[in-house]
Parts: sequence; C-alpha cells; structure tokens
Amino acid sequence: MSTEPERIQRHGSAVRVAHGVNAVVVIALIATGLALGDQLPAALVATLGGHALVNEIHRLGGVTFATILLLAIGLFHSSTRSLIRDLVYFRRGERRWPQAFLKCILSPAHRRTAFHNGRFDPAQRLILLLLACSTALITATGVYLYILPAAPQWVFLVAIRIHIYGAWVAIIALCLHAFAGLGVLHTHRGLLGAMFGDGTVPMQTARTLWPDWTQKKLHDLKGGNPHGPPSHTPS
Ligand code: HEM
Repeated sequence: MSTEPERIQRHGSAVRVAHGVNAVVVIALIATGLALGDQLPAALVATLGGHALVNEIHRLGGVTFATILLLAIGLFHSSTRSLIRDLVYFRRGERRWPQAFLKCILSPAHRRTAFHNGRFDPAQRLILLLLACSTALITATGVYLYILPAAPQWVFLVAIRIHIYGAWVAIIALCLHAFAGLGVLHTHRGLLGAMFGDGTVPMQTARTLWPDWTQKKLHDLKGGNPHGPPSHTPS
C-alpha cells in the first residue's frame, strides 16, 4: 500500500501573505498606470475618482511600493538571493524540456514532462525572470520620475520610455504567470492553492512540474526534516 500523501506543501504562510499583498499592489499600480496612459475607458477613470486622483494614487503607491521592496530585499536578503539563484537556474540538459512539456499539455495521457532539477520549471523561471526584471526597471524609473532631479531632457525621455515599455513587458509576463498560476492547464491543476490556499499542491501537479524538487521534499519529509529540500540543487 502506498503511503504517499495526496498533496505536498509548497509555500509557508509568510510567503503566501507577502505574495498576495505584492500581487494586489502591482495590479493596482498597473491599473492606475493604464488609466494615466489613457488605456482605460474615460468613464472607468471618472468612476475611480478622475485623472488627478489616479495620478496621486499611482505616484504615492509607486514610491511606497519601491520603499517596501527595498526594505524587504534588505531584511530578507538570503531568501532574495536564493530566489534569484533558483530563477537563473538554467541547465544545458533542459533544452529538451519545452518540447516534452508541450507534448504533455497537448496530450493529457502523457503524464510526465522531461526531467529537470530546478525548484521552478524552465518556463516558469523564464516568465518570473521577465516579471522580476521588468518590475525592477519600472520601479527604478518610477522613483526617478517621482523625484525628477535636474537633468537634460533626454534623460527624462529615456526614463519615461523604459517605464512605459517595461510596464507592457510586465503586463504580458504577469498575464502568463497568472494563467499558469490559475491552474487552467491540466499540468498545473491545483497550483493556485500554493499561493492563494493552504500552500499545498496536488502530488501529481508537483511531480509533473518539479520532479526532482518533489522527490527530495518527500525524501526529507520521510527523514523528518521539517524544512524540506534546499531551494537550489547543484548540478
Ligand atoms: C495576478 C495574480 C497572480 C497569481 C494568480 C499568481 C499565482 C502564483 C502561484 C500559484 C505561484 C506558486 C508557483 C510555485 O509554487 O512554483 C506564484 C509564485 C510566484 N509569484 Fe505569483 N501570482 C500572481 C501575481 C504575482 C505578481 C504580481 C508577482 C510579482 C510582480 C508574482 C511573483 C511571483 C513569484 C516571484 C513567485 C515565486 C515565489 C517563490 O516560490 O518564492 N506573482 N504565483
């Protein structure tokens, strides 16, 4: 008889709360930014309190977000470092992964994707990296535009372009990230619970997306290590 649990713990409550707050703030900044760029219907902007109020919310919200982000990175620098290490964890052997993953998505009978030993699957890493880099660029240029120190006009023009184009990249990356996170694909079934539930995911999903991470986590749980596997697996 198998003693394997049906679900496996992916994230603790502190990470889930931080992710939820971050998601709400980022979505609010994107919505107010779109309103300022006249990308939302005028009637909706008027319902939100008009252009001037939206501008104030976007500017103050953006600076508060940047301050808290810097503080969080400073306070939790080792978790930040390990997250960045796990995001840039690309290996030569993973070149076969995209094709195997596509096969798995198109044919539900195909239960397993190709092996990789990262904490995140390669597609997830790529999307999260895009999201992280674009967020960093938007935040840095946003703070510059808030302070607006005396500088030649071209500096302002470069900053505003990076801010706007960076925001479009972040929106695309966020849509892909949220689509995967919502668990619409059979390969990602139940993934939402990892961040917006009790922090667990179904065992089948964990094995499909992160085969090595799941194996090590189960091994550590059996061995009584309550902290699970190290976040980064050296090759
Ligand atoms: C809009 C709704 C969002 C949904 C539905 C969503 C969903 C998820 C889910 C299900 C996970 C868990 C994936 C896993 O365990 O490997 C996750 C992880 C993550 N999300 Fe989101 N997310 C959203 C917004 C955001 C935003 C706005 C950001 C950042 C700008 C973000 C950044 C991250 C990061 C960095 C992780 C990995 C955290 C870690 O494992 O340490 N997410 N998200």
